[in-house]
Amino acid sequence: MRPRRFRAMGPLTGRIRVPGDKSISHRSIMLGALALGETRVSGLLEGEDVLSTAGAMRAMGASVVREDNGDWVIHGVGVGGLLQPQAALDMGNSGTSTRLLMGLVASHAITATFVGDASLSKRPMGRVIEPLSLMGAEFTPSPGANGSQTLPLMMRGAAPAVPITYRLPVASAQVKSAVLLAGLNTPGITTVIEPIPTRDHSERMLKGFGARLEVEREADGTRIIRLHGEAELTGRRITVPGDPSSAAFFVVAALIVPGSDLVIENVGLNPTRAALFDVLRAMGGHIEELDRREVGGEPVADLHVRHSALTGIAVDPAVVPSMVDEFPILFVAAALAKGRTVTTGLEELRVKESDRLAVMHAALELAGARVTETEDGLMIDGTGGEPLPGTPEGAAIATHLDHRIAMSLAVAGLASKGGVEVDDTRPIATSFPVFESLLDGLASGTARA
Ligand code: S3P
Repeated sequence: MRPRRFRAMGPLTGRIRVPGDKSISHRSIMLGALALGETRVSGLLEGEDVLSTAGAMRAMGASVVREDNGDWVIHGVGVGGLLQPQAALDMGNSGTSTRLLMGLVASHAITATFVGDASLSKRPMGRVIEPLSLMGAEFTPSPGANGSQTLPLMMRGAAPAVPITYRLPVASAQVKSAVLLAGLNTPGITTVIEPIPTRDHSERMLKGFGARLEVEREADGTRIIRLHGEAELTGRRITVPGDPSSAAFFVVAALIVPGSDLVIENVGLNPTRAALFDVLRAMGGHIEELDRREVGGEPVADLHVRHSALTGIAVDPAVVPSMVDEFPILFVAAALAKGRTVTTGLEELRVKESDRLAVMHAALELAGARVTETEDGLMIDGTGGEPLPGTPEGAAIATHLDHRIAMSLAVAGLASKGGVEVDDTRPIATSFPVFESLLDGLASGTARA
């Protein structure tokens, strides 16, 4: 364990840049590994989750190499060409690696065993096992709590797999992507029906690599995604935009620390990801987009954020999928806002890297915030801008191997009287290895002004 007390520091000023998007980084390696020819990726997130994906793709035959200039170069095996891995695939903490790779394996004639850390080994895999079984894959999962199916898990892919039409029972980009990736090596058309839109990086990138994929939108917002197999993918250049989910921590930090005036450069603003910034604006946050542009087929801007007096709101549950990873840090903003913030429709947060409703409830209460937990959300009565008391001497926030809990409470510490003690900062490396050095650079005034 690597504990740390995060304390109030001066205003956050200057310019920073956050690392590449985690979702896009995973997908660049996976599709590069299935493409013919060379894929060159700049701005790849070098976090532990993405390195788990890189390791697995190497174990199945692709060449994935980091060059000295920071680019990652991938030589793929071609769709249908994945090789039998010789050892279990260690997915570490990464749900995205696990579920998307299960999709890839499902339509190849190989057997693979997936293992992960204590957090990942509790997470439900039934949501991907169900559609991939319909396509012909066979699974031997471990029994989890409440009848769930979990890692360690062995699976055998089907070749040829059967194309399916699958209506997503949960709003999950991981399940959607698993089925589409399985469809790549499946003859015929694989169809995913998505009643509630989720992040669409897979669709954008599959098209970019040359797959034939069509998206039809119905009047009620339902999306019907059709992928034509067997696809042929061609290697390409990819520039990964900055991760809005990582930028979120510094956006909220600048909003709640008095005197802050910060520019965060190169933040991905795909509409299926960016709802947090709209919610914070509706709470009174000054967040301005500068130089909106396109990077690697994704909308991007620099965000100019200034300290703001925030007011609590009721968050519309319809926006949940487009900020599903940002609720822990939104709860911190709410704890500093004036009045009550109410969130609902957050059942999915209970099956992330930790039960983020229960864990954030306990964490914020320990830091002195007023929080009520409901079945599907939190209700938070904010301080109106007054700093939180902070965690008492000798007590620490339990992060439960969840990077976003650790970073959220680190930010809460910046707006506290006595500081917030986090029990373990190591999980931060799963998605944002330079989080602490960026924060320390801002504290010492070494961020670019
Ligand atoms: C992700 C999808 C989301 C998100 C996760 C990354 C992806 O998960 O929470 O961090 O890259 O597809 P769900 O599909 O479970 O909502």
